[in-house]
Amino acid sequence: MKTLLVTGAAGGVATRVRPWLREHYNMRLLDLREATDLAANETAIVGSITDREVVRRVAQGVDGILHLACAYSLDIDFEATLDANYRAQLYLLDACVEYGVRRFVFASSHHVLGQHRVDGFAGDHASVAPDGFYALSKVFGEAACALYAHRHGIKALSIRIGNADDRVSDARRQHIWVSGRDLAQLVRIGLESEDIKSDIVYGVSRCPAPFFDNARAVALGYVPQDSALDNLAPDFVARDAMPASAGPDFVGGPYVPQPLIVKSPL
Ligand SMILES: NC(=O)c1ccc[n+]([C@@H]2O[C@H](COP(=O)([O-])OP(=O)(O)OC[C@H]3O[C@@H](n4cnc5c(N)ncnc54)[C@H](O)[C@@H]3O)[C@@H](O)[C@H]2O)c1
Repeated sequence: MKTLLVTGAAGGVATRVRPWLREHYNMRLLDLREATDLAANETAIVGSITDREVVRRVAQGVDGILHLACAYSLDIDFEATLDANYRAQLYLLDACVEYGVRRFVFASSHHVLGQHRVDGFAGDHASVAPDGFYALSKVFGEAACALYAHRHGIKALSIRIGNADDRVSDARRQHIWVSGRDLAQLVRIGLESEDIKSDIVYGVSRCPAPFFDNARAVALGYVPQDSALDNLAPDFVARDAMPASAGPDFVGGPYVPQPLIVKSPL
């Protein structure tokens, strides 16, 4: 069995994909807090991706990395993203080069396109339009993957995750929702497909009027199993009932009306 390093392994997305991935990989689980509910082939390690020596230690001997850890909030300031979302991404990619790790799967976000309007949205073909400093750091992360893929031959897949909650909470999210099972399928494509060089796909399940055709993912063999419409929350909010603060007119929803802060005052 190959070994997979997961960063952010105690978080929501990791918790949803781990049951589908540990059937196929031995799992090394790095997080600031200890991951729980471990299977026999999962090992929890407490540490920060912002510590370069920690990254070098945990990357030794793995076959691939699923990079989920990041700093984020609706209105996160630029400075607060620097260590976890910029420097640490390079520590991880650099460790791949140093220790011969050939596969890197990066959790990007639909927020890299967040400032596009929903009406007339170009989907897979839309140009980058980050909706804040969290999203800007994801654009960097994708570009860093491409840099290392082309320079060092690491096969890198960036997954622009839609909405990975257990249930679909509102009309915007129904176009971008993804189940843990489908996300895990995309991660496995990133870890196994020979056709990947440096690719970008969308982490979405079967959605009504989808924002994305996800053509590249389909070409790589992705067949989503789960449907947003089968997973609507009991208190699902229709588009007409969404408040302006939820950003119903924009792909990035509530991130779009937030202020852009380079550095929060101390
Ligand atoms: N949840 C979604 O719907 C969604 C949508 C788009 C993209 N994403 C991306 O997926 C990834 C996971 O998101 P999530 O919803 O699971 O977030 P989360 O906050 O639930 O989990 C993130 C985990 O990363 C850990 N972490 C943060 N900084 C760290 C550091 N310096 N070192 C080690 N661990 C650290 C946290 O402790 C946390 O357990 C993120 O990169 C996020 O941007 C998620």
